[in-house]
Amino acid sequence: MFFKKNSMILLEGQKMKLIIVENYEEASVEAAKVMLEQVRSNPKSHLGLATGSTPIRLYELMIADHKLNNTSYRDIKTFNLDEYCGLQSTHPQSYHYFMNKHLFDGLDIDLHNVYLPKGFGDIQENCDAYNALLDKNGLDLQLLGIGSNGHIGFNEPGTAFESKTHYIELEESTRQDNARLFFNGNIDEVPTHAITMGIQNILDAKKILLIACGESKAKPIQTLVEGQMTIECPASALQNHQDVVVIVDTAAASLLTKK
Ligand code: F6R
Repeated sequence: MFFKKNSMILLEGQKMKLIIVENYEEASVEAAKVMLEQVRSNPKSHLGLATGSTPIRLYELMIADHKLNNTSYRDIKTFNLDEYCGLQSTHPQSYHYFMNKHLFDGLDIDLHNVYLPKGFGDIQENCDAYNALLDKNGLDLQLLGIGSNGHIGFNEPGTAFESKTHYIELEESTRQDNARLFFNGNIDEVPTHAITMGIQNILDAKKILLIACGESKAKPIQTLVEGQMTIECPASALQNHQDVVVIVDTAAASLLTKK
């Protein structure tokens, strides 16, 4: 394999498009092109969305485009990957709050069409309800970040590739990563458990868009792009999918050997 900027690569029979750009801004611009193409070509798209630091600029670009070009989200449905357990949707660190603040408040989306897993109450009931919802609706495009330990959604290493929405204990490293960026740096404030779409739910999406920026993502990106499929790197499950776009900056691409 030979990688260069904006190259398309083939991975053992599966089609994965790998786009290498300079930095976070360029990665967000490339991701916005994929996202907006989806929304414009099908204004009734079902979008799987992510939280965390990675999609923040992409969401700003979607809002800017909506204001400038009137791209409408009125008939779009969204389904988030995950939610912390124990935080109500009004909690400033909940993913529900994050999505309102960083995306939904800036769009013309109908909030009745916005779905996130519910991290309180009867969790098993919530998992079953979310699986039923996903099965009924289907996802046209799933947006993903990636954890420094290779997680997608909150599917931590060791999660079965066949998993559906489930309750999970977060790894210490995940809680540390999230404390660094959110929760005022205090790991004790980061919930210990979450509810997350399973890897199978993610693989069921028609198209997958993964963005990874920064050195801490280099190792899992190497495994995803060049490594063996293993449950120790949940993102490597994407090698099984037929339509994946991976957008990385040079830091996240730094361990790819065939640049
Ligand atoms: C967020 C999510 C996580 C993040 C990942 C990367 O909904 O499911 O998998 O995408 O932890 O987080 P950031 O973007 O903060 O590096």
